[in-house]
Amino acid sequence: SHMTQFLTELPKCEHHVHLEGTLSPSLLFKLISKHNVELPSDFPSTPEALEIRYNQFTDLDDFLHFYYIGMNVLKDEDDFFQLAWEYFQTAATQGLHHAETFFDPQGHLCRGIEFETFLNGFTRAAAKAKQELGITSKLIMCLLRHLPVPDCLETIDLAHKHYESGAIHGLGLDSSEKPFPPHLFAECYGKIKDKFPHVGLTAHAGEEGGPEFVTNSLDLLNVTRIDHGVNSVKDQELMKRLAANRTMLSVCPMSNLKLRVVSDLSQLPLKELLDAGVPFSINSDDPAYFNSYILENYVQVHKHFGFDLKTWCRISKFGIEGSWIEDDHKKQLL
Ligand code: HPA
Ligand code: ZN
Repeated sequence: SHMTQFLTELPKCEHHVHLEGTLSPSLLFKLISKHNVELPSDFPSTPEALEIRYNQFTDLDDFLHFYYIGMNVLKDEDDFFQLAWEYFQTAATQGLHHAETFFDPQGHLCRGIEFETFLNGFTRAAAKAKQELGITSKLIMCLLRHLPVPDCLETIDLAHKHYESGAIHGLGLDSSEKPFPPHLFAECYGKIKDKFPHVGLTAHAGEEGGPEFVTNSLDLLNVTRIDHGVNSVKDQELMKRLAANRTMLSVCPMSNLKLRVVSDLSQLPLKELLDAGVPFSINSDDPAYFNSYILENYVQVHKHFGFDLKTWCRISKFGIEGSWIEDDHKKQLL
């Protein structure tokens, strides 16, 4: 339809996509064969069966179980390159201009894979995406919040030289939310903020956790962006603060639907965010697991909210303004 064409052509920036979450069932099975990986005996045995299971996630932890199993097929640099390159190619056909992409070092380091192996693969894919597809991107390292803080601090030490070189541009926090509140990671964030004041800080907060996870991420981790953040709407003081500071929420509509944060997309507080002046972007989170890449998220939001063109342009602008890029780069995207 002409709305799908409009949404395809709208300049889109994505700030919440986990590269490990772009592992398609077909690439997953290719890599099982390539490396002779042993998966749990009850793991679905075909891409089709796996997609059916992916359609039945009950919550964040149920998804994460599969997400961490999937990581086991990623072994050499070329696997990480292929993973990211497939994502960029798909997103390019959907009108993606700029991506700030998460990756989870601890999910690979714990399997004996070297930091350089995945970082080089991702960096090569990003360079090819820039050159051949015109997509710019940044890498944001995430800490896995279910792992012990000393493990997270060790990961920050390993990443030090890659923050220094500019290969990594941000710090995030993901995995199971409610049992692992933000205050646990204050020292980790403090370390990066002190040594690299230019590095962007963000954290998953207010996905399954309440608005206090958002407030505490702002207060204790000094983040300037919030990933998900949809539960912020339950605290009006917080909403005012997000609007006043222009703190962007990276909202993931199809993720929230598939992980049952909402039972229908119309429950997302997008109208409340617009009315309160809280900037947000629309993102795919783990597109291969939710069978929804960036455009599908825009199209489904349009189906449920029917925003006018002016509102869509406002949302597109939120995403450009909220990107961690230079002002002249923002002007190019506008
Ligand atoms: N939330 C928490 N952890 C994650 C997510 C998410 O949406 N995606 C990948 N890891
Ligand atoms: Zn996420």
